[in-house]
Amino acid sequence: MTDSTPRTAPHPNPELLAFARDMRREFSRLHMEHEFAVDEVLTKVSILQREFLHLHQYNPIEHVTSRVKSLDSILHKVTKRGIDWTPQAIRTHLTDIAGVRITCSFIADTYRILDTLTSQTDVKVREIKDYIANPKPNGYKSLHAIIDIPVFLSTGPVPVTVEVQIRTIAMDFWASLEHKIYYKYNGAVPDHLIADLCDAADAAEQLDRRMEQLHTEVRGNGDTTPPDSTEELEEELVLRLWKQSQQES
Ligand code: GTP
Ligand code: MG
Repeated sequence: MTDSTPRTAPHPNPELLAFARDMRREFSRLHMEHEFAVDEVLTKVSILQREFLHLHQYNPIEHVTSRVKSLDSILHKVTKRGIDWTPQAIRTHLTDIAGVRITCSFIADTYRILDTLTSQTDVKVREIKDYIANPKPNGYKSLHAIIDIPVFLSTGPVPVTVEVQIRTIAMDFWASLEHKIYYKYNGAVPDHLIADLCDAADAAEQLDRRMEQLHTEVRGNGDTTPPDSTEELEEELVLRLWKQSQQES
């Protein structure tokens, strides 16, 4: 005997559907807020960079990169760490959804940028880790700051967490190589490579210190402003305008 009743798709549970819709809305909001927070930090860094260049004719920042963790990678970390699957718990416990990495020319610049950024009144510092003064056992060096920054939405300001990493070019070069090696060996890096990486981290530090010494020797310790050829021109112009205004009065 054949069953002639037409087959229909199983009826989706409306509660489940509503739950899935809510989750999707919440997570895309979470993602968007972190994108805005990254934009805020990038604007702050760009202002610092341009102001520094204007005041001292010197740019302490070589380059800046940023990323917001993908939804997949957020869920992977949440599951791995046993964090509740609620946006609130994720906001509190996952502090690296938004990341900004600032690569500086010299070690002194890394501290200068960290201090300037974290002392801004709208920035709330949650945690600072100084892996330059206290490197990780593998040789990793960097300054890490976990900050909360307000993002102004139509409903009002929302504090959003951003992980800021600040390091020199040499430290950045080392970290990207170490990262590749770590992934290639799935975390089980052979001993001889670990030792080589430690040596390379020391060599990178020596290079940083020598380059900084050279830089200080050439520029001096103070923030000396090199002569600007347009300054003379401006002085002449101001003098002319002043004389004119004297004649007129
Ligand atoms: P997470 O589990 O990712 O938070 O790492 P963690 O808690 O061991 O380190 P921490 O919070 O101090 O640093 C977070 C981020 O710094 C990482 O996601 C990396 O981007 C970077 N980092 C930390 N340690 C290392 C390291 O040994 N090598 C490299 N290449 N990067 C590191
Ligand atoms: Mg961490």
